[in-house]
Amino acid sequence: MKLSSISFLSKLLILQYLSFQCLSTQDFHFFTFILQWPGSYCDSKLGCCYPKTGKPAADFTIYGLRPSFNINGTSPTNCDIQSVFNKSKISDLIEDLEINWPSLRCPRLNNIKIWSHEWMKHGTCSESKLSQHDYFQTALKLKKKLNLLQMLKDAGFEPNDQFYDIGNPLSIIEDATGFLPGMECNRDSAGNDQVLKVYMCVDISGSNFIQCPSLVDNCGAKVQFPKF
Ligand SMILES: *[C@@H]1O[C@H](CO)[C@@H](O)[C@H](O)[C@H]1NC(C)=O
Ligand SMILES: *[C@@H]1O[C@H](CO)[C@@H](O)[C@H](O)[C@H]1NC(C)=O
Repeated sequence: MKLSSISFLSKLLILQYLSFQCLSTQDFHFFTFILQWPGSYCDSKLGCCYPKTGKPAADFTIYGLRPSFNINGTSPTNCDIQSVFNKSKISDLIEDLEINWPSLRCPRLNNIKIWSHEWMKHGTCSESKLSQHDYFQTALKLKKKLNLLQMLKDAGFEPNDQFYDIGNPLSIIEDATGFLPGMECNRDSAGNDQVLKVYMCVDISGSNFIQCPSLVDNCGAKVQFPKF
C-alpha cells in the first residue's frame, strides 16, 4: 500500500472514532443555565473590561448554557471539534447577544470570540437538539423568561451594595420559579461574599426550568448585591 493511502485509512479511522465519541457524549440530560451579575464580576481582584459597545446595562448577563449529565452533574465539552462557528448563522441575534451575552473579561475580548468559544466548548454537546442558531436563541429566550433581576427587585433584593441573608435571594427565586437555584459568590477585597452567578437547570427541550439535581453553593450566610 502506498503511504498516502495508509494515512488516508488512518484518518478515516480517526474520524470514525471521533464521530462515535460525539454521539456518545451528546446524550446529555438537561441544560445548566448560568447568569452572572456584572457588579460582582467587576468588583473582583481581576476587575473587568467593558466591551467595545460600552458599559453593559445594569442587568444579569448570560454566562453559559451547558448540556449536563444527571449522574454526576458534570458537563461534557468540545463534542464536535469539526463544527465551525459561523457568525452569519446568528446574524439576526447579534444585537440581542451584544446586550445579553457580552464578555467582561480583561484584556477585552471580541464578543464573537466568546460566543465561538461557548459554541465549540458547550453548544456542540447539544448539537443533536439545537442548531448553532437555536443554541444562542434558546439562551436569550431563557434569560427573558426568567427575568431574574426584575424578579429579585420586585421581592426587595436590590443591587444597592447592601448585605442580605443568603436565604433571601434563594427563596425569592424558588418562590417565583418553583425551583431552588444554585448560587456562586465571589469575594471582594474586603472579604465580602457577593452574588456572582445564579444557576438554573432546564429540560432538554431548552424551554422549561427544572430542579437541578445538584446545586452549586459557595456563599456565606450574608451576601452583598453590589451596585453596577
Ligand atoms: C459523568 O457521566 C457521563 C455520562 O455517563 C460520563 O460520560 C462522564 O465520563 C462522567 N464524568 C465523570 C467525571 O464522572
Ligand atoms: C455560514 O453560514 C451561511 C448562512 O447559513 C452560509 O451561507 C455560509 O456558507 C456559511 N459559511 C461557512 C464557512 O460555513
